Amino acid sequence: MKQMSRANFGSKLGVILASAGSAVGLGNIWRFPFETGNHGGAAFILIYLGCVLFFGIPIMIAEFMIGRHSRTNTAGAYQILAPRTHWRWVGRMGVLAGFLILSYYSVVAGWTLEYICEAATNSFAGKSAQDFIASFNGFVGNPWRPVLWLIVFLLATHFIIVRGVEKGIEKSAKIMMPALFILLIVLGICSVTLPGAGEGLKFLLKPDFSKVNSNVLLSAMGQAFFSLSLGMGCLCTYASYFRNDTNLPRTALNVASIDTLVAILAGLIIFPAATSVNIPVDSGPSLLFITLPNVFLKAFGDVPMIAVILSVMFYVLLALAALTSTISLHEVVTAYLHEEFSMSRKKAAWLVTAGCTILGIFCSLSLGVGKDYTIFGLTLFDLFDFVTAKIMLPAGGFFIALFMGWYVDKKIVYDEISNRGTLKASTYRLLLFLLKYVAPIGIGLVFLNELGLFF
Ligand code: PFF
Repeated sequence: MKQMSRANFGSKLGVILASAGSAVGLGNIWRFPFETGNHGGAAFILIYLGCVLFFGIPIMIAEFMIGRHSRTNTAGAYQILAPRTHWRWVGRMGVLAGFLILSYYSVVAGWTLEYICEAATNSFAGKSAQDFIASFNGFVGNPWRPVLWLIVFLLATHFIIVRGVEKGIEKSAKIMMPALFILLIVLGICSVTLPGAGEGLKFLLKPDFSKVNSNVLLSAMGQAFFSLSLGMGCLCTYASYFRNDTNLPRTALNVASIDTLVAILAGLIIFPAATSVNIPVDSGPSLLFITLPNVFLKAFGDVPMIAVILSVMFYVLLALAALTSTISLHEVVTAYLHEEFSMSRKKAAWLVTAGCTILGIFCSLSLGVGKDYTIFGLTLFDLFDFVTAKIMLPAGGFFIALFMGWYVDKKIVYDEISNRGTLKASTYRLLLFLLKYVAPIGIGLVFLNELGLFF
């Protein structure tokens, strides 16, 4: 493996925003609400928060330590910290997970582009909730349009990746994150004041633990890993560009807080609006796309200009949030091919883009013309989502926790967490305890539980 001179993030804020840009995306605004809706609401959210706290934050710090210490891609990092061992398979599994996620994630990212066009041409006006459902189904079932948008989205990701780390990734995150946040708050206020919003709020805030089963546990854990971009070396790859004075625990805490806040805000927008217009909360992956236009219409329908401006802004920001996440997914695979196979960055990026386009097309078609072809009862799109979010990412997190908790020399852990002794490492012991015991045992139990071993 070759060591090359590597770029760095330019500022501390850039580090946080780029990592938060990876974490905040469709996982928070599209996936979190539909998983919450499918799994009973508030109880799911509480378990999700537990997973963020006890698994997510420690594993994020672990990924940061691995990446910054080794200063290379995720697969190469294990070769530096654990040469000639099987640990490198953890890195490689992460690269594969990134490739698979990018393929189906870009399909949904493409949908956001279609909705930008719909919003800009004021085509939400005068439609009922049932019309929104019908037009979403018509669009997703169309064999051409979603595929076209998928390709546009992957090409946009590709060109930012080729421009490199600081110019591409950092700049886009710095502008779009705060703007998205403000708009989410505005929409949240609009949504909770709609007539009939109370039912949705109750669903979001009042836990019903009788609905908790093994499936809910696995889904909440998977959602935490997916949303925080954990378990596949993504933040490890980003941390390889961190500066030596970046405070790793604090950065992890900031990123996890921003990410969780955005997810909860998304829930506050979607559920009150869904119950307000009688859209079932368990509508699955279509939930965001069939619910949100109602918010624009109901809250601003009297002033079409504002409805158009705000809805276009929202879908543009959603597309950008998805873009900062697809960039991070693409970067994991590109950095791996570039550094491990001594390929030029451009060639590596093209390979990733082409591969994801082909897989993405199959995922997209599996929701329309190909929906009768299923594997284990799942469409290709659902299968990719299940295997990556609910199996590969938590499994990756499990091994990362074991790796940093048990295998890696504790001096390296201490040096990384304290920036070589220049910071007070007051969380060192707690972090080691979480990585050694809490995260691996917790993740292991959820997996065993899913196999039907407990309840
Ligand atoms: N965290 C991103 C989101 O919530 O949209 C998705 C994601 C990005 C998952 C990067 C995994 C990853 F490595």
